[in-house]
Amino acid sequence: MNIAMIGSGYVGLVSGACLADFGHRVTCVDVDAQKVAALQSARIPIYEPGLDRLVADNVAADRLFFTTELASAVADAEVVFIAVGTPSRRGDGHADLSFVHAAARSIAGALKDFTVVVTKSTVPLGTGDDVERIMRETNPEADFAVASNPEFLREGAAIDDFKRPDRIVIGAQDERARTVMGEVYRPLYLNQAPILFTTRRTAEVIKYAANAFLATKITFINEVADLCEQAGADVQEVARGIGLDKRIGPKFLNAGPGYGGSCFPKDTLAFVKTAQDLGTPLRLVETTVAVNDQRKRAMARKVVAACGGSVRGKRIAIFGLTFKPNTDDMREAPSIAIIQALLDQGAQITAYDPEGMASARDYFAQIGYAQNAYDAAAEADCVVIVTEWNEFRSLDFERLKEIMATPVLVDLRNIYRPKDVERLGFAYASLGRPNGIE
Ligand code: UDX
Repeated sequence: MNIAMIGSGYVGLVSGACLADFGHRVTCVDVDAQKVAALQSARIPIYEPGLDRLVADNVAADRLFFTTELASAVADAEVVFIAVGTPSRRGDGHADLSFVHAAARSIAGALKDFTVVVTKSTVPLGTGDDVERIMRETNPEADFAVASNPEFLREGAAIDDFKRPDRIVIGAQDERARTVMGEVYRPLYLNQAPILFTTRRTAEVIKYAANAFLATKITFINEVADLCEQAGADVQEVARGIGLDKRIGPKFLNAGPGYGGSCFPKDTLAFVKTAQDLGTPLRLVETTVAVNDQRKRAMARKVVAACGGSVRGKRIAIFGLTFKPNTDDMREAPSIAIIQALLDQGAQITAYDPEGMASARDYFAQIGYAQNAYDAAAEADCVVIVTEWNEFRSLDFERLKEIMATPVLVDLRNIYRPKDVERLGFAYASLGRPNGIE
C-alpha cells in the first residue's frame, strides 16, 4: 500500500519505518527541511534502539521516503497518518491541537481518490470529529474517511512494540476505512495480534484510559512502597504477591521515583481536563497526577536523609538522568525535580547518563557532567541511582568505596539487594524495603 506519514517525530518515524518494513511504500513528511535531509541519508535525530538500522534498510529497499512536500505524498497515498506533535498547552493542561488541525487542512487540499486519514498522535476525545469537519470545510468534494488508530509504543522498545503489539485498535465506522486499515496491519494479525475494530470515540478513550490506568498502577505501588518502609515490609515481595493474581498482573509494579516521559504526564493531565469539561471528573486519575508530582520532589528528601539531614556543601553523584533507560529523553524525568531540589538545598551535583547528557544540559547548565559513573562518583558524599540503565546494575563497589568521600548509595530503582550493598560497607537506602533484608 501507499502510505503517507505526516510528522516525522518519534511516533511518525517509528511507525513509518515499521510499516515500510511490512512491505508498504511509506513517505514520511516533515516541515523541518534539515530533519528531512538528515533522514534521507538515514541519520536519525532520536535515540531508539534498532531504528537507525530499520530506517537505513528500508530507505535502501526503496520503501521508505522522506520529504517536505506534503501535497504530493498525500495525493499518492491510500492511507494518511497524522503523527504530528500534541504538546500540553501552556496554562490549562489541555493538548495543543494546532498542528493536528493544520495537518488536516493541508491533507484535505491535497486529496485525490478515496483516502483514509488516521489520527495516530494521542489526541483528545472528539479530535477525529474535528479533523473530519475541518477537512470537509476545506475540501467539500474530497472522498475520505477519518479513523483513529492510537499507538501504544514504549520508548526504548518501540520497534518491538510495533511489530509485536498486545493489540491493534482501529476506531472507524466506515466499512471502506475498516477494510483499508485491516490491509495496513495484515502482516501483524497474521502474527495473531488481536485487532479491535470500534468507533472513533471509543478508540480515543482507549488510548487515554490505558495510559491513565498504567500511571495509576505505578502510583499505587509507589505509595505502597512508602507504606512498606514504615511498616517494615518489602514492596518487591508485595508486588510479586499481588502480581501473581492474574486479575492484577505482574507488570508496572516496580516502585520508583515517579513516572515521567513524554506520554504519561501529558496524557493523564489531558484526560483529567477532558473529564472535568464533560462534567465527569476522574478523581482517581486526578489524585494519581498530584501524587506523582509530589513524589519526584519527595525523592530529594530521601537523599537528604541519607546524607544525615543536610546536603549543604555535599557532593552528590547522580547516576541516570533520562526518564527511563534506553532513551535520551529527558521530558518530565524525575531527575529534573530531584536535582533542582538538591541544588536548592546547597548540594553540588555531578551527573552521568549514557545517553541523556546532551539534552540534560538544557535543563541544568550549572551542574557537572562526567564521562562515566566512576568519574561522577569521585569524592562524592552520596551516589543516587535515578535511572536503571544496565551499566548501573553491576557497579564495582570496591572501586566506588575507594573513590567516594563517604560510601552512601540511594537506589531509587531498587536494583540492588540491601544486604549485598550493606555487606560491602555502604549505607544504603532504597524504596519500600527494610535494611538488612536479603
Ligand atoms: C508509555 C506507555 O507504556 C506506552 O504504551 C504509551 O504509548 C506511551 O507511554 P513510555 O513513556 O515510553 O511509554 O514509557 P514506559 O516504559 O511505559 O514508562 C513510563 C514511566 O513509568 C517511566 O518513567 C518509568 O520509569 C515509569 N515506570 C514504569 C515505573 O516507575 N514503574 C514501572 O513499573 C513501570
